[in-house]
Amino acid sequence: MRRALVTGASSGIGLHLARRLAARGLEVWLAARRKELLDVEVAAINAAGGKAHALVLDISDPDRVVETLGRLDDEVGGIDLVVANAGLAGARGAIPLPKCEWADVRDLLHVNLIGSAATIHPFISRMLKRGHGHLVGVSSVSADCPIARAAPYGAGKAGLTFYLEAADIELRALGIDVTIIHPGFVKTAATDELQGMAPMPFMVPVEKMAAVIDRAIIKRRRLVRHPWIMGFVARLTAWLPRFLMAPIIRKTSG
Ligand SMILES: NC(=O)c1ccc[n+]([C@@H]2O[C@H](COP(=O)([O-])OP(=O)(O)OC[C@H]3O[C@@H](n4cnc5c(N)ncnc54)[C@H](OP(=O)(O)O)[C@@H]3O)[C@@H](O)[C@H]2O)c1
Repeated sequence: MRRALVTGASSGIGLHLARRLAARGLEVWLAARRKELLDVEVAAINAAGGKAHALVLDISDPDRVVETLGRLDDEVGGIDLVVANAGLAGARGAIPLPKCEWADVRDLLHVNLIGSAATIHPFISRMLKRGHGHLVGVSSVSADCPIARAAPYGAGKAGLTFYLEAADIELRALGIDVTIIHPGFVKTAATDELQGMAPMPFMVPVEKMAAVIDRAIIKRRRLVRHPWIMGFVARLTAWLPRFLMAPIIRKTSG
């Protein structure tokens, strides 16, 4: 594997993952909207002997994303690893449904589901032609279990997980690996916004989360939940009958 694209690489999980990929010799395109942050990180990676590029990309414009990323793939000779990590999270992802404006619901679904699918789409036919490739999506443990205050956020992530699970079934046999990541709570700007709003148990440092994703990439895993206890609790709760599950969720969602 030689070339990688990481979206949402201006901060948080994407930034730390891009650093790790570059440190193990991949040429990395760091994509996000905040060019000034990308430029600083790209300069740091290149100064440390890595090879990185900044790509200004707004995944809320999916048609343009498909066009831009298709062109990038053609121009650089093929991207081998695509990490669709960019997402709308934090306070805007945790508004109680009665207080949600339509713009919040629309943007969460649009960015987290449509924007992520648009990030992945242009690479499918190109990777198939090359006979290899690796698609990675950063979804969320909230895709495992419906929770209060996260109806649109969870729906977008559950949609992304479903899309990638189906993609894995279809594409792995054709040479394209698909890896889905379900992080629990990770210490980033997104969770900083949620301090005091909701309990965030088993929070993991962002460096640790990036290391877990990097290992999942190396091992070409299908679905990784981290920390495992969050994935376990979420799936166990989702499995309960609704009359038991709903009051538990309401009590623990803050
Ligand atoms: N932190 C957690 O606890 C947690 C848990 C589960 C899942 N996740 C997921 O992990 C991913 C990364 O989140 P994070 O915690 O690292 O938060 P973060 O530090 O806020 O990073 C979010 C990244 O997404 C980018 N982004 C947001 N909207 C975008 C858009 N329209 N176009 C392009 N890029 C966009 C941001 O860059 P710009 O603003 O520069 O565009 C930023 O680089 C998200 O998909 C999030 O849902 C996080």
